[in-house]
Amino acid sequence: MDFFDLVGNARAMRRIKPDPVPLSLIRKVLDAGVKASSGMNTQPWAFVVVQDKSGKEYLAERYAWAMRDRFGDAIVPKEGDDSPTARMIRAVQYQIEHLAETPAIILVCGVRDWPFAVPAEKRVGLAPPNYGAIYPCVQNILLACRAVGLGATLTTMHQMFEAELHERFGIPDEYGVVVMIPVGYPMGKFGPVSRRPAEASTYFDSYGNQALQPQGLRDDT
Ligand SMILES: Cc1cc2nc3c(=O)[nH]c(=O)nc-3n(C[C@H](O)[C@H](O)[C@H](O)COP(=O)(O)O)c2cc1C
Repeated sequence: MDFFDLVGNARAMRRIKPDPVPLSLIRKVLDAGVKASSGMNTQPWAFVVVQDKSGKEYLAERYAWAMRDRFGDAIVPKEGDDSPTARMIRAVQYQIEHLAETPAIILVCGVRDWPFAVPAEKRVGLAPPNYGAIYPCVQNILLACRAVGLGATLTTMHQMFEAELHERFGIPDEYGVVVMIPVGYPMGKFGPVSRRPAEASTYFDSYGNQALQPQGLRDDT
């Protein structure tokens, strides 16, 4: 696939077949993840690939609790509603109910690191994980999944029970668990993402100015 087709067709895929996924594909998508940039090339990531039944059942139970606690009725599908939001809610519900059957759930961990802007005297307790380095890695993983035909969803609701994950999966405190990505072969078809065009949010030289006075750029549109 051409890069621009790929990036435009990497939707969150929440309906996943239980069929086992070859380890080589998981290695491949994680290898794509680690091609991402990180400050000083510190590569502050670690991956816990949860594929055993008990680990997945634990994550499924806790994720369902977190989603219901946080969103309540907002994620209960309304009968007869076929809007894009309603369809997404149905897929979210499906994922909540079937998460334990997903072949692999990848926990992407990031080394904790205080942002430069936090002065030394305010560095109390645990630093937040290095989100800035982890998200490019996560995006590479999602695009790589799409490229090899695996469905994946970026999820963050585990933040509601992140402290428990350290105990359950033996993750050292020096890491935070940034993203949880359920991965497997999709039930449905990949499709295009729906987004506002970048042009609608792009300004030249100062915020709010959409009219280009070409200097560094040449207007060839
Ligand atoms: C920071 C972040 C957190 C997200 N957390 C969740 C989540 O906890 N559960 C979930 O089902 N989707 C989650 N998503 C996926 C988005 O809901 C999804 O990408 C968005 O609705 C657009 O849908 P699309 O990617 O299918 O086009 C998250 C995405 C981002 C970027």
